[in-house]
Amino acid sequence: MARLGVNIDHVATVRQARKTDEPDPVWAAVEAELGGAQCITFHLREDRRHINDRDARLLKETVATKLNMEMAIATEIADIACELAPDQCTMVPERREELTTEGGLDVVRHAKAIAEVVNRLTDRGIVVSAFIEPDNAQIAASKECGFRAVELWTGGYAHAKTPTEGQAVLGKLKASIGAAKSHGLEVHAGHGLTYRNVAPIAAVAGFSEFNIGHSIVSRAMFVGMRSAVAEMARLLKENESNN
Ligand code: PXP
Repeated sequence: MARLGVNIDHVATVRQARKTDEPDPVWAAVEAELGGAQCITFHLREDRRHINDRDARLLKETVATKLNMEMAIATEIADIACELAPDQCTMVPERREELTTEGGLDVVRHAKAIAEVVNRLTDRGIVVSAFIEPDNAQIAASKECGFRAVELWTGGYAHAKTPTEGQAVLGKLKASIGAAKSHGLEVHAGHGLTYRNVAPIAAVAGFSEFNIGHSIVSRAMFVGMRSAVAEMARLLKENESNN
């Protein structure tokens, strides 16, 4: 059974709208775990637009399952990651003007700089994952750079305009799982997954972790974080592949 990782960034987005102390993403993480999350994911962005250093510190102290920190390849953030030592770091591209992470990291292009950060984090005992598009060259470069896992960008699937297009992206994701596994990499998935579109992705064999944020936090506004996470966990379980 694949892990459900809940990204709690947008709880902090609401807090930062008023620059106050509520809602607390650390509290959200506890509620998410009580609802069945097996991993808590957060992104400490360079501009600290949602999660801040205090949140990262407290999440490290309180998360009882697995802590996954999304991060850019920036020295300041890598220093914090080495100090914090979360269970996993997922390297993502980061642009200030974007609303959320758009597409995967270009590991082929930035291989040298990326490998340096991967080595630092790996030496600290952290599992390092690359958030990449389902592309063989990116997968091979991720292996070369020393990543232990890849998180395949599911935005292409989520944003597909027709069922045919969605099926084509699913086919690409399946082929990429095979390629990543042939390199000995663990395979995760994330971005744009919702209660409505997650079933076909959950049914794909080979994913060991799903990182889902916006849809769960949105639903949590109406039913509470614990129930929102439990619903998503149920959907994953009901649709999971038996392979
Ligand atoms: N995985 C990664 C690497 C991400 O950057 C994000 C967005 O922060 C997610 C998963 C979650 O995406 P969403 O909020 O669309 O579920």
